[in-house]
Amino acid sequence: MGNESINWDKLGFDYIKTDKRFLSTWRDGQWEKGTLTEDNVLHISEGSTALHYGQQCFEGLKAYRAKDGSINLFRPDQNAARMQRSCTRLLMPHVPTDMFIEACKDVVRANERFIPPYGTGGALYLRPFVIGVGDNIGVRAAPEFIFSVFCIPVGPYFKGGMKPHNFVISSYDRAAPQGTGAAKVGGNYAASMMPGAEAKKNGFADAIYLDPLTHSKIEEVGSANFFGITHDDQFITPKSPSVLPGITRLSLIELAESRLGLKVTEGEVFIDKLDQFKEAGACGTAAVITPIGGISYQNKLHVFHSETEVGPVTQRLYKELTGIQFGEIEGPAGWVVKV
Ligand SMILES: Cc1ncc(COP(=O)(O)O)c(C=O)c1O
Repeated sequence: MGNESINWDKLGFDYIKTDKRFLSTWRDGQWEKGTLTEDNVLHISEGSTALHYGQQCFEGLKAYRAKDGSINLFRPDQNAARMQRSCTRLLMPHVPTDMFIEACKDVVRANERFIPPYGTGGALYLRPFVIGVGDNIGVRAAPEFIFSVFCIPVGPYFKGGMKPHNFVISSYDRAAPQGTGAAKVGGNYAASMMPGAEAKKNGFADAIYLDPLTHSKIEEVGSANFFGITHDDQFITPKSPSVLPGITRLSLIELAESRLGLKVTEGEVFIDKLDQFKEAGACGTAAVITPIGGISYQNKLHVFHSETEVGPVTQRLYKELTGIQFGEIEGPAGWVVKV
């Protein structure tokens, strides 16, 4: 497939086989150097712990074609660190930060023709993952592991501009208080598929999960983090051990404070106190910033700024974040890593 066959305007978030992916195996206590390969099929033991016990984790980050033609990775060191925390939680070996970032860069370079051009709003989505493999049957850590990074070109999350979406509070939990919610592991996502499908069937963009212990506080918006802007201009985002610490969330916390002058609070977001917010949003690598029009809870829809218009603070956060990612605005030191 040549570039000429990619319609950049039609790209969504679908699997496309790109040219090369990085592959390394951990055995005898260390990662091998690793290689780029054209083969997109893994041949693994039927006893692999990843298949039976969910011993696996993954990451998601993007490479952006910047305004000046260079290629930007956005805070890959943070993805490396989060993957190390996920590996610790699931008894898997760490991928060192340098190895993680170099593998990402190698994959971007080897698939440069798939990077959506500047101005299309698309990006090259990178999917690093670690899986437990090798012959095994008991519930214990795998004898071997695979670390791989592949990529797909993805379109802008919003075709035709940013617009608000409605979400619904789920009665299901995605993760337990001392469970694996803060780790980016497949089991959390398997648990979210049914609630997510139900939400979509009922006309909502996705499910919102409440805290699993009391079901009174907002935790997570599908595969993204929640934030709200109060009437007195505070940026509030949930603090909980079962929320995935998003890198977009972390970045917005810093930008809200340093560039928009908002007071930032990581705290509790009670579902019966949504009136305090004039705007709300979901944030993540895929979702970027998705304005939340309304939240349906106990069959009532609570609307924030508007179901059709994007609030001004959300708009400014979006401009600042995407401006840094696409190299239009200078980011804080170390955020943008050139490929
Ligand atoms: C459950 C969940 N929460 C939050 C996020 C946002 O994280 P990030 O901003 O690092 O993409 C993601 C996406 O990766 C996610 O899957």
